Amino acid sequence: MARQNAIRKVKPCPHLEGEISLPGDKSISHRAVILNSLAQGKAEISNFAPGKDCSDTVSCLRALGVQIRKKNSGVSPTLVVSGTGGDGLKEARGILNAGNSGTTARLLGGLLSSQPFMSVITGDASLRSRPMRRLIEPLRLMGAEIWGRGDDSFAPLAIKGRKLHGVDFSLPVASAQIKSAILLAGLFAQGDTVLHQPVASRDHTERLLKQMGAKLEGSGSRICLSPLTKPLAPIDFCLPGDISSAAYFLVAGTIHPNAKITLRNCGINPTRTGIIDVLRAMGAKLKIENERLEADELLADIVVESSELKGIELGGDIIPRLIDEISVLAVAGCIARGKTVIRGAGELRVKESDRIANVVKELSKLGAEVEELPDGMIIHGGVLLSGAEVDSHLDHRLAMSLAVAALAAKGETTINQAHVAQISYPSFWQDLELLSCKEKRLHHT
Ligand code: S3P
Repeated sequence: MARQNAIRKVKPCPHLEGEISLPGDKSISHRAVILNSLAQGKAEISNFAPGKDCSDTVSCLRALGVQIRKKNSGVSPTLVVSGTGGDGLKEARGILNAGNSGTTARLLGGLLSSQPFMSVITGDASLRSRPMRRLIEPLRLMGAEIWGRGDDSFAPLAIKGRKLHGVDFSLPVASAQIKSAILLAGLFAQGDTVLHQPVASRDHTERLLKQMGAKLEGSGSRICLSPLTKPLAPIDFCLPGDISSAAYFLVAGTIHPNAKITLRNCGINPTRTGIIDVLRAMGAKLKIENERLEADELLADIVVESSELKGIELGGDIIPRLIDEISVLAVAGCIARGKTVIRGAGELRVKESDRIANVVKELSKLGAEVEELPDGMIIHGGVLLSGAEVDSHLDHRLAMSLAVAALAAKGETTINQAHVAQISYPSFWQDLELLSCKEKRLHHT
């Protein structure tokens, strides 16, 4: 992983124009490499997410004996995964380190509970403070022997893998990580696994499993998975760009007075497009062009232009469809006319940082008028922001959201611990510079 500057200074720019290629989708990347590791045969995954989270999944899988070769590196790596055929994972010789990635820890926690060996999964300080009981409890109902620190609350997780049985389980929170962890465990269990979701969360695991030959029925509120009777079939796949990374430029484009940005090959899976629905409801000029399907995932080019935004109230079923985009939507709320109210988003408190407290704290330093709620925030928009010194709290989404806020603030903003953007979007700062600087843009084309 290239070393990046820990401090970034961002100033408003007269224009924000051009086109960017988004990094591959982080959620789909984790799933594509894990599921292809279990398949019988080789798969080539291109536009794999270049951030640290997905490299951590790759490192864990390599430690479990999977051969994964990187054909190229940079903004869009291609991976060649030699699948182990379902029963070929090996006990790792050391502790598996998921770094900052909840998806890595939870998905592997589910999978490894079903494998006949011992595993220990840990992560960085942030990951070790995130809830794991929600993973441990349903896996134990399947017969898993899995324990966590703090009376099963946190990682490190210790797993003594064994043969599991299917389960009929109602997910208490709309979490795609927990849903996927149970489905991965269910692939190797005895009997069907049935899941009931309170609200549909991202469905990339279900889509991939179906295409790779698993028997999975239903979607939305009820999903039924049968255990594998033969290994999964590998799938070659060019991954769509990450809509959660696009979100920074969707908001930057709408709030900037002279902007026109084209985001190519952006994933628009309906379980992820809450950000588009909300921005449109706020008055954003946003066009979706050239829609197409790649391995059952919808993608398109998105063109966004300077817009006059108005405040909005959001909550309820839309929250899981935009959970990772709320910090940057809060920035849109600061610029929009009127009040923006976000409720029902208590899950934000257990992300890479407490995203409700930290968004409120850091945007307030820029002069925003934001009130903290237990499960969201109230933003009084239409306030002129002023540059200040802010901090990412080592949360990648907060670092990039603050950069977008800084574009709309008077004067210069210093963002501390900005290097953390590399968790999901290592080329974010270059892309921002490219869009904001005409000369550079000409030089690059
Ligand atoms: C993810 C699911 C969401 C999301 C996270 C990625 C996934 O988390 O916030 O960034 O890839 O499954 P939860 O499952 O905890 O809601």
